[in-house]
Amino acid sequence: MQFSTGQAGRERQIIDLCASTFTASEGTEEGASIARLVTGLLGTTPDGDVVVCCAQEGPTLVGCIVFSRLRYEQDERIVFVLAPVAVRTDRQGEGIGQQLLTYGLKQLRGRGVDVVLTYGDPAYYSKVGFRQITEDVARAPLPLSFPHGWLGQSLTERDLQPLAGPGGCVPALDSPEYW
Ligand SMILES: CC(C)(COP(=O)(O)OP(=O)(O)OC[C@H]1O[C@@H](n2cnc3c(N)ncnc32)[C@H](O)[C@@H]1OP(=O)(O)O)[C@@H](O)C(=O)NCCC(=O)NCCS
Repeated sequence: MQFSTGQAGRERQIIDLCASTFTASEGTEEGASIARLVTGLLGTTPDGDVVVCCAQEGPTLVGCIVFSRLRYEQDERIVFVLAPVAVRTDRQGEGIGQQLLTYGLKQLRGRGVDVVLTYGDPAYYSKVGFRQITEDVARAPLPLSFPHGWLGQSLTERDLQPLAGPGGCVPALDSPEYW
């Protein structure tokens, strides 16, 4: 398995992988929604605001994760949010998701990111260091339909202290359907 960062030249593969994975797990509507999200994240987000990490076997894309910047204007820390995470349906349960997340978090640390947030199943994401948080720790950019799934971790040696002020996401994530 090879892990790498960057989307150049493989945008179509990444969008297709996310769409087919979520269609299989959550249905057609969710698959289409994730395809729109990833198309936006890859197509409309400035380079410095998005980090895409992929797991590949030879030419085959097996998994991908996307981090994008959150801006807390009143806080000096660099914050990214993880969404989505997809591992090819026929390769799930082999540890690829966790390896890819561990790789991705290391890439963020290398870029000086202080805090990473995500929105998902605490049971899964706790395996790679995320903890449940409330909006006292980080205000979400949009209302959370499932506050139980609001998760975060510090990527520095310091504990995750509350982020100051409201948070803003990149345009691709700026829609209630993703929150
Ligand atoms: C969720 C997903 C990314 C996990 O990737 P994966 O490579 O299959 O997972 P791994 O093999 O790394 O991890 C497996 C472990 O996580 C657990 N796990 C897998 N999916 C889980 C889920 N949705 N919720 C809770 N636990 C989960 C497994 O029970 C297993 O536990 P163990 O390590 O104690 O045995 C993958 O199944 C996927 O793409 N699912 C569809 C899309 C999705 O739901 N994405 C996440 C939301 S953004």
